[in-house]
Amino acid sequence: MSEVNVERWAWAEVNLTAYAHNIEYLKSLVAPAAVWAVVKANAYGHGAVVIAKSALHAGASGLCVALAGEVVELRNAGVQGPILVLSQQPYESLSALLQQSATHTVYSIDYVNELAKCATALGVSQVPVHIKVDTGMNRVGVAPQLLMELVHHVQKLSPLIVLEGIYTHFANADEPEHPANNEQSRLFTESLRQMGNLTDSLKIHSCNSAAAITLPHERRSLVRVGISSYGMSPGPQLSDNCTELEPVMSLKARVSHVHVVQPGQGVSYGHRAITTEECVIATVPLGYADGVPRRLWSAGGEVLIGGKRFPIMGVITMDQLMVNCGPVGNCPVEVGDEVVLIGKQGSEVISAAEWADALGTIAYEVTCGIGARIERQYVEVPH
Ligand SMILES: Cc1ncc(COP(=O)(O)O)c(C=O)c1O
Repeated sequence: MSEVNVERWAWAEVNLTAYAHNIEYLKSLVAPAAVWAVVKANAYGHGAVVIAKSALHAGASGLCVALAGEVVELRNAGVQGPILVLSQQPYESLSALLQQSATHTVYSIDYVNELAKCATALGVSQVPVHIKVDTGMNRVGVAPQLLMELVHHVQKLSPLIVLEGIYTHFANADEPEHPANNEQSRLFTESLRQMGNLTDSLKIHSCNSAAAITLPHERRSLVRVGISSYGMSPGPQLSDNCTELEPVMSLKARVSHVHVVQPGQGVSYGHRAITTEECVIATVPLGYADGVPRRLWSAGGEVLIGGKRFPIMGVITMDQLMVNCGPVGNCPVEVGDEVVLIGKQGSEVISAAEWADALGTIAYEVTCGIGARIERQYVEVPH
């Protein structure tokens, strides 16, 4: 059968040199603590398998994911090394997790019992678990006052269930002055104290990117870094702490159509944007189905063409968006020109954080939202 060749004029460039640099930088920042790379949600949109392999290659000691399916995807692609699943999973997924040698997060006695039962049925002899303590995120984890009951239960199931780690997760680490940080830190330290010398051989961890950067006393055995490894700040308050990080993802396209629109004409659905003068409109072939939010235009969204900023005009449609390239006479934009939606062109940069600020969200949501239709092109850029 002959090969079908299709090309799309929209793609995401994932810079693996920048990713490796970020992992190495974070390693040096938190040493002697280890770095575990958070690669859930398709590595925040960057592509889980390639990023997971790059993380381990760059010196990450382990990986973290959210879902059983994410473990299966990584193992099927030959990813080795520890993979911590960050919350308990449906019982139906336990066989798969056990067969794929995952490291399990546990916070309920019932769940530990089910793990032990399933492992016995499968003939698995050792199941590494990390207990998650809920010190104030109020999402998942064992309450500190129930911790010792769970610890004793896990001990009873030894050597099948191996207590390998204990951890918690900060809710406000991207706001270093938030009083809840101290309170969570205090509760976690108190939880560890209750366990006495049982913690001696454990991996103890509490830091996401923000905490790893701003709470040095919390770095403990390892840090679980996601957003910073992708070269983005965990939030506006930490931008100055993140200048050594290099953005990993760029979102790019090519101009697919150029046309002149008369003054007073509506552009895109609803004609909510009206031209005020004769202007050149460039059409760019990606839209909200690709993760460019429909309202980015009204939030002041811009793109780069030829190293210059141009405003998006009209609501973003499912597969295409329009850009106002200005008056006819001096518009150099042509079909096929490169358009940068996120990334650098010449001396101009549009960051995921710029979208996030405009849209009232966080950079995490921007890159996680880049759709499956957008091909990830992996590049290694010589420094
Ligand atoms: C439990 C846990 N640890 C670590 C992380 C990584 O956080 P960040 O991307 O802010 O580094 C996450 C991500 O949400 C998480 O849920």
